[in-house]
Amino acid sequence: MGSLDTNPMSSALPNDKAAFEPLNFFAFFPSTNSAAAIAGDLIASAMNTVGFTWQASPAATEMEVLALDWLARLLRLPTTFMNRTSTGRGTGGGVILGTTSEAMLVTLVAARDAALRRTGSVGVSDIPRLTVYAADQTHSTFFKACRLAGFDPANIRSIPTGSETSYGFDPAKLLEVMQADADAGLVTTYVCATVGTTSSNAVDPVGAVADIAAMFNV
Ligand SMILES: Cc1ncc(COP(=O)(O)O)c(C=O)c1O
Repeated sequence: MGSLDTNPMSSALPNDKAAFEPLNFFAFFPSTNSAAAIAGDLIASAMNTVGFTWQASPAATEMEVLALDWLARLLRLPTTFMNRTSTGRGTGGGVILGTTSEAMLVTLVAARDAALRRTGSVGVSDIPRLTVYAADQTHSTFFKACRLAGFDPANIRSIPTGSETSYGFDPAKLLEVMQADADAGLVTTYVCATVGTTSSNAVDPVGAVADIAAMFNV
């Protein structure tokens, strides 16, 4: 009988962490994929700061605002995304949420309420008119979040994609569907674009999708 490996796990797994998280793979996003991120996570867990509100932890809240402005700069987002700009107080700013599902739900609720304000809805009476859009490669959490936010399942559009766009959103198809909805008196409310879907790693053309969304006040 040959000698048994005393640590089969270490011999079975490649040493290179990048083998599990190649740089061009966006389909899921482990936050602790660098030594700095692991150290940050350890410190955050050890401190267990309660950051409900600014009053509960001013330092955590200020740090969150600052770090998200750094992220916006790193991603070269327009200054409208920033809490503070070089000329003073900005119009944007982000919050850190626990999961993508949570982030989708929060943004859907914000878009839902903005659309209801635009229509002059009495309470939530106009909810059945609101429509949302995503490509058919979009993660299932989007469709789940739409249901949680109260959108009518009949108004949740899953736009078909194909190999001709590498399974990314086809802007022409999106335009066609949104236009048909607007013509039918529905209220276009939210478009979800993904950079790296989990099902096929498809990358939606974010710029073109944003341009079309803007045409419909989304
Ligand atoms: C593109 C995409 N959207 C949504 C999700 C769902 O994320 P969460 O489990 O953080 O809610 C994932 C998870 O892998 C994802 O890759």
